[in-house]
Amino acid sequence: MTDNINYNHIVDYLNITLPDTSGLLREMELYAQENTVPIIQKEVRCFLGTLLRLIKPASIAELGTAIGYSSLFFSHYLPDDGKIVTFEREEDYYQIALENIKKAGKENMIKIMFGDAFDNVKKLDGKFDVIFMDANKSMYRYYFDTLFPLLNVGGVIICDNILYKGMVSNDELCPRKQNTIITNLREFLDFISHHPKLETSIIPIGDGVSVSVKLSD
Ligand SMILES: C[S@@+](CC[C@H](N)C(=O)[O-])C[C@H]1O[C@@H](n2cnc3c(N)ncnc32)[C@H](O)[C@@H]1O
Repeated sequence: MTDNINYNHIVDYLNITLPDTSGLLREMELYAQENTVPIIQKEVRCFLGTLLRLIKPASIAELGTAIGYSSLFFSHYLPDDGKIVTFEREEDYYQIALENIKKAGKENMIKIMFGDAFDNVKKLDGKFDVIFMDANKSMYRYYFDTLFPLLNVGGVIICDNILYKGMVSNDELCPRKQNTIITNLREFLDFISHHPKLETSIIPIGDGVSVSVKLSD
């Protein structure tokens, strides 16, 4: 099993079958690999690309920029006047993300809010078609509560690492020190699965991805 979510032979097959990136995105993948930067996995990237083709978003809010890989990937699915706001608290990642965004010529489209997203999400205004959560997992509910009013009806909340190495579904995989994260993730999954204003699916690819469509305000 890979990270206790899927069988290795399935992940290997998906990896050789799904298309690779090129250019700057490929360079960023290699950088991430060499420097252990946690970016979205290949099968998750492809799944999100397909979703974004269907959603046709004009605006995305992202929690967790790292070096800007997913932001730049998403930017290919937005119109030229689209906007992405993304949150990052690590200074080194922030600086590398800025450089990558500049290299890609996407400074007008992608804005990074540097600092702890706990404070910065409260400063966000405007409306969004997609919210992508890929930062500290314990805070997903807080980010949801803060950002749900800014999500357009018909918009989509996507959360990564939602099954967290399989620990969310299996107590035996869960070391004691991870208890709080796992409890919070379980409560969050239960919350979005039964929320009357959401239609939710949980997909066991990568480290687990949830997709919730907002049905009404
Ligand atoms: C999994 S990485 C994001 C990867 C990125 N979405 C990608 O796929 O290219 C998570 C990032 O969230 C950032 N992060 C974690 N907690 C945060 C917080 N409270 N505020 C802002 N950023 C945070 C981490 O520093 C890390 O860079």
